[in-house]
Amino acid sequence: MHSDWNHNIHYHGVILGSIPPNCKSALDVGCGHGLFARQLARHCERVTAIDVDHETLLRGRAAGNSEGRITFVEGDVMTHPFCDDSFDLISVIATLHHLPLTTALGRLRNLLKSGGVLGVIGLYRAHTIQDYAYAAAGKPASWILRQFRSCADVRPPLQEPRETLEKIRASCDALLPGNKFRQHLLFRYSMVWRKP
Ligand SMILES: C[S@@+](CC[C@H](N)C(=O)[O-])C[C@H]1O[C@@H](n2cnc3c(N)ncnc32)[C@H](O)[C@@H]1O
Repeated sequence: MHSDWNHNIHYHGVILGSIPPNCKSALDVGCGHGLFARQLARHCERVTAIDVDHETLLRGRAAGNSEGRITFVEGDVMTHPFCDDSFDLISVIATLHHLPLTTALGRLRNLLKSGGVLGVIGLYRAHTIQDYAYAAAGKPASWILRQFRSCADVRPPLQEPRETLEKIRASCDALLPGNKFRQHLLFRYSMVWRKP
């Protein structure tokens, strides 16, 4: 049986498969308890894992820092004094809907090095017939997958998504031209963008 599965973890591979070669420096935004940061540490020399929530970050630190490759930072990604052009990879899993959408996309774009990759696994507010069709198909698919997996909690703090997929896709297209955007079955979308 697979351990640690949920709708976010199900799509981790989308970002792991997009890590640029020779990734020296990665940023995991809204790292929660650090599960994805620890996966990144297998592929990137240094990982910065940032979360604004004190308790969450304490648990992330306690869970281990992959032989010193992960630096846990308690802070707001929108205001923390990172330098522009710092990261080869930025991952944002189940967190973009906690942030002001367009300002956050602009900020993350600036923090990436040229040639760096921004990978988002996100939630959206269902709005169109297609969204409801995905949700209707996703529910039984999720139920079946759960029968074969032990489920990991989605790490609090949680927030309901306000933006529709249409709005998120339009913002990504405006700010991150050439991005690869996909709607997925299990209530998530992914967006991968390589900075020119
Ligand atoms: C739903 S959790 C997702 C956690 C983790 N990425 C996962 O996939 O399990 C969203 C996380 O984003 C964090 N967060 C929200 N706003 C943030 C901000 N401005 N800067 C950094 N982290 C933030 C929250 O504290 C929370 O831990």
